Amino acid sequence: MSKAKSENKSGAVIDYQGVLRDIAKSMVRLRRPERLLRMIIKYIHQEMNLSHASILVFQENQKYFSFVDSKGSRKIPPQLVKLDMDHPLAKWFQRGQSKELPSMDYLSRAQISRWMGDSALSRRLKDQLRGLIAAMDILNIDLAIPGYYKRALLGLLLLGEKRDQAPFTDPEIAFFQVLAQDCSMAVKTAEYHQSLLERNRELSGRLEQIEDMRQKEQDTYYQIMRSLAQEVWAKDAYTFGHIGQVERLGIMTARELGLELTEKKRAVLSAGLILHDVGKIGIPDHILNKPSSLDKEEWKIMRTHVEKGVRILEPLTAFKEVREIVRCHHEQYDGSGYPRGIRGDQIPIGSRIVSVVDAFHAIVSTRCYSKGRPVAFAFEELRRCSGTQFDPEVVEAMIRALTREMKKRGNTFFESPHQAEGPSIPEESVAS
Ligand SMILES: [Fe+2]
Repeated sequence: MSKAKSENKSGAVIDYQGVLRDIAKSMVRLRRPERLLRMIIKYIHQEMNLSHASILVFQENQKYFSFVDSKGSRKIPPQLVKLDMDHPLAKWFQRGQSKELPSMDYLSRAQISRWMGDSALSRRLKDQLRGLIAAMDILNIDLAIPGYYKRALLGLLLLGEKRDQAPFTDPEIAFFQVLAQDCSMAVKTAEYHQSLLERNRELSGRLEQIEDMRQKEQDTYYQIMRSLAQEVWAKDAYTFGHIGQVERLGIMTARELGLELTEKKRAVLSAGLILHDVGKIGIPDHILNKPSSLDKEEWKIMRTHVEKGVRILEPLTAFKEVREIVRCHHEQYDGSGYPRGIRGDQIPIGSRIVSVVDAFHAIVSTRCYSKGRPVAFAFEELRRCSGTQFDPEVVEAMIRALTREMKKRGNTFFESPHQAEGPSIPEESVAS
């Protein structure tokens, strides 16, 4: 018989290393160690021709060893499946063995009997050995193999006598020791996996909290930006009413264009419509409200409101697309706009909509330096600049949507641009 092989009960040679390799593979696959431990017990019982085989595992939270599985005609009685920390076997393997005896990392009944015959042993040690024999009698075992992890006793492999009554051989004991170590590793791996899962769950919870906080912070910042935008509009124009009306006109135009407005896309477009001129907060009032035409230098300053707006919105990390709308809202369809001179479809559709709605608003609004013009005039102006300054499709979509709305609602607001307050575009008209 080779050192790594033995015969099973049917006389076939057991390839210990092969078995151990299979078990090692199972350890990697199995996340519930009980399944592996049961597999090992089943294997030992079937192949090794023992009266029984059992595995006990230490329960960290309850501080005792409990039964995982037991097979065989003389398996461990269920009422004995819990061994506390003071059980003779647990104490023997846990607290180190007597210095009077050679170091043994297993206990066999045959070995204990040999020690008992040694007249040089102390009485105290012999009492301890008698306690071990009594415990092994109760458990019906001939061999006890401990499983450790970092010197902590994690489990016990308890084996009954061989049916042919032959003593356990050294290779067999070595094989069982490796099995016991595998069981310990499986238990530890599963515990580690479980603790990782719990840690992941905890981290996910914290990430959600951080995300909530970040969202609240962003919402607060957005509200501040909205207030700033409102202030800019209040300084710049006063007959068109609330900026919410411009927002709704832009959304109506997008719908008329047949754009698919998901909740997110609608939110982006709304923010773009509201915030596109927020950078004007950084433009001096004497330029912003100058009654006469701006000179070259003043225009240069006025145009900086685009980049100022983009910078103001930078803390809103979720607003990348909104910043793009803001960045491009003075680009022109034919490429003659600023800051980059992009053209046509290169300009985000949100910016093309903002551009038309913003121009319409500028025409019909009364400002400190100019009276608002009728809606019909604004339509003419938009059409005159269609294809050069504005996207023709957006111009026509906005005119169609607003005309239909005004007919439906009998709304004369845009025909009376000097009216400070008037009926707004009904919210339900764009909420559908
Ligand atoms: Fe602007």
